[in-house]
Amino acid sequence: MIEMNSVREILRWHIDIGVDEAIGDAPVDRFSLVEASAASIKAPNPTVTRRRAESTPPPSQASEELVKAARNLAAGASDVDALRSALMGFQGCGLRKTATNLVFFEGAPSAKMMMIGGAPGAQEDRQGKPFAGPSGALLDKMLESIGVQRNNVLLSNIVFWRPPGNRTPTEKEAAICLPFIQRLIELVQPKILITLGGSASKALLGESQGVGRLRGRWFSYKSAALEIPIDATVMFSPESLFKTPNQKRASWQDLLMIREKLNV
Ligand code: URA
Repeated sequence: MIEMNSVREILRWHIDIGVDEAIGDAPVDRFSLVEASAASIKAPNPTVTRRRAESTPPPSQASEELVKAARNLAAGASDVDALRSALMGFQGCGLRKTATNLVFFEGAPSAKMMMIGGAPGAQEDRQGKPFAGPSGALLDKMLESIGVQRNNVLLSNIVFWRPPGNRTPTEKEAAICLPFIQRLIELVQPKILITLGGSASKALLGESQGVGRLRGRWFSYKSAALEIPIDATVMFSPESLFKTPNQKRASWQDLLMIREKLNV
């Protein structure tokens, strides 16, 4: 018989690794299913197993190939719909295996402002839209405070599937998804680009200092197919504002700086 304490520990362990949602009404013992199907499979042919291991490229080479594949796919997209279709067919990012939906972007491709966050969370994963949960509601209020409606901004993230347990995307995941967000920026060519949080600033601006040091100034965002660099700035992510409300003061200053640039 399982003790109540161990049940609690098992539940806590599941939550910690990102299993925070029930997908069925009744539990299924998947270990017994695996054992049953393993018993019905013949032992593998050692020659085949060895050959496959020898031909598997090392992880860094494999990621380079995935980045190259992502770059080729993204470069071939001539508008945002084609880019979305390309991303839907892209199997190179491991995050898609655990996600429910692709979360690419929301907003008009003619938007003057793009805001790019780190990664979709649970609500975003469920709805297939970026900034759909409490972070999005806070972002809407922040935008309204400077007279900007959400539908006038294009919202996206540096990775397009929810990382399990809302963990930060790894550098490899960000690198594999980067060509798609870079192409999205090239196609939209906004007047202003805003990165929300440290992961987005690092991936898009190459800046690895903390947001507290990066915010409050303008950077120049460039990419290969972009004719004119884009004015970019860094803000705290809405999640960070929930955790550390005293950052809201700095964010208000950032919003005023953005409003001034938008009105120029
Ligand atoms: N935070 C992000 O960075 N992106 C989202 O889509 C939602 C919350």
